[in-house]
Amino acid sequence: MIFQDSHHKKGEKMVTKKSYIALLVCSFFCATYAQDKNDIFTTTKPITEKAALHTDSLEPKIDITNKNREEIAKTLNVILADLKILYVKAQNFHWNVVASNFAELHTFFGKIYDELSEKIDAVAERVRALGFRADGTMKEFLAKTRLKEEATVPAAKEMIRILLDDYEAIIRSLRFDVEKSADLGDMGTNTLLADMMLKMEKTAWMLRSFLQ
Ligand SMILES: [Fe+2]
Repeated sequence: MIFQDSHHKKGEKMVTKKSYIALLVCSFFCATYAQDKNDIFTTTKPITEKAALHTDSLEPKIDITNKNREEIAKTLNVILADLKILYVKAQNFHWNVVASNFAELHTFFGKIYDELSEKIDAVAERVRALGFRADGTMKEFLAKTRLKEEATVPAAKEMIRILLDDYEAIIRSLRFDVEKSADLGDMGTNTLLADMMLKMEKTAWMLRSFLQ
């Protein structure tokens, strides 16, 4: 036994014993620290890790595959087209509405197209952030939209009904796309679309309330 070595003096034995205890304590804490470090690297992603999906291109290296980014961008361009057509429709109604409560409806339709304008910008910029081209021509919007343009000037109540139908159609499609974007690993788009859906549900409630 090292501590009973008769060749060592008493003082030396004590030092050796203290050193041994210190070594044990240190080993314990080092092992705990190493375990903590290990936990960190198994529960977070080292930010210095080379991007797995890309090489030297300027494509977004954000851990969403090219295929998934492209699919999401295509979906967003369709949503963009719908929002753009609805924007024009709301503006048309804002200008042409005739009713005893004209001022109220004129203002309300104005707020709707202002709200849609923000959404249009956010969706187009998300397409760009994913590395693709945002559609920017009426020809593209008309080709991709799932909504119908309004060629006539309907009665005020019918205008509200038309806007409500379009809002609800977009909300239904957003609910699908919120899930789809999560399935494709794009929580950024997921958050954007979920927030948009929430706000559009509120506007749909207001439109519905005009009809009751
Ligand atoms: Fe105006």
